[in-house]
Amino acid sequence: MKIVLIGYMASGKSTIGRLLATEMGLSFIDLDDYIEEKENKSITEVFATKGEIYFRKQEHFYLKELLALDTNFILALGGGTPCYAGNMELLLEATNVITVYLQTSINTIVERLTNERNKRPLVARLNENELPEYIAKHLFERSYFYNKAAFKLKIDSKNKETIITELIEYTNLDKQ
Ligand code: S3P
Repeated sequence: MKIVLIGYMASGKSTIGRLLATEMGLSFIDLDDYIEEKENKSITEVFATKGEIYFRKQEHFYLKELLALDTNFILALGGGTPCYAGNMELLLEATNVITVYLQTSINTIVERLTNERNKRPLVARLNENELPEYIAKHLFERSYFYNKAAFKLKIDSKNKETIITELIEYTNLDKQ
C-alpha cells in the first residue's frame, strides 16, 4: 500500500508523513526531496533556472516513477502536485494507493508560512500583508483537487501524536 499525503504548503505533510512511516514501519518519501535529488538542484533553483512549467513536468514524471514502484511507502506530495497534469486522477485510479488530505485553515497556513516562505518560490516574494489574501484565494482554488482525496483529516489545533492516531484509526491503515 502506498499512502499519499496531500495538502497545502506548510500543512505538515512531511512531518506527519515521517512520523506515520516510523509508526507503521514503512519508508517515507518526500516528493520535493526526491525531485531535488534527481534534478540535483533545490526546488528554489529549479523554479529560478527552469521555471514553474518545467517543475510541473518533472513533478508529474517523478510522481509516476514512484507510483510504478512495487514497494509500499508513505509519500508526501508538494502542495501543488494534485492540481497539475492530471496527477490527482492518476492517484485516484492507481491501485494500492490511499490518498489523505491534511486539511488546514487559512489562519494556520498564514501563521506557518509567514516564517517559512523563503524556501517556497510561490510565496517567497509576498510580504506579510499580502500573504493572507493570496493563501485564501489559492487554497480555495486548490481545494477542488484536494477534496477528491479518499480521506480528509482536519489537523489545525491537534498535536502530532493525535494526528497520527486519528489518521491510522480513521483510514484503518493498520488493517489495510
Ligand atoms: C508548491 C509546494 C512546495 C513545492 C513547490 C511548489 C506548491 O511543496 O512543491 O514549491 O505549488 O504549492 P510543499 O507543499 O512541501 O511546500
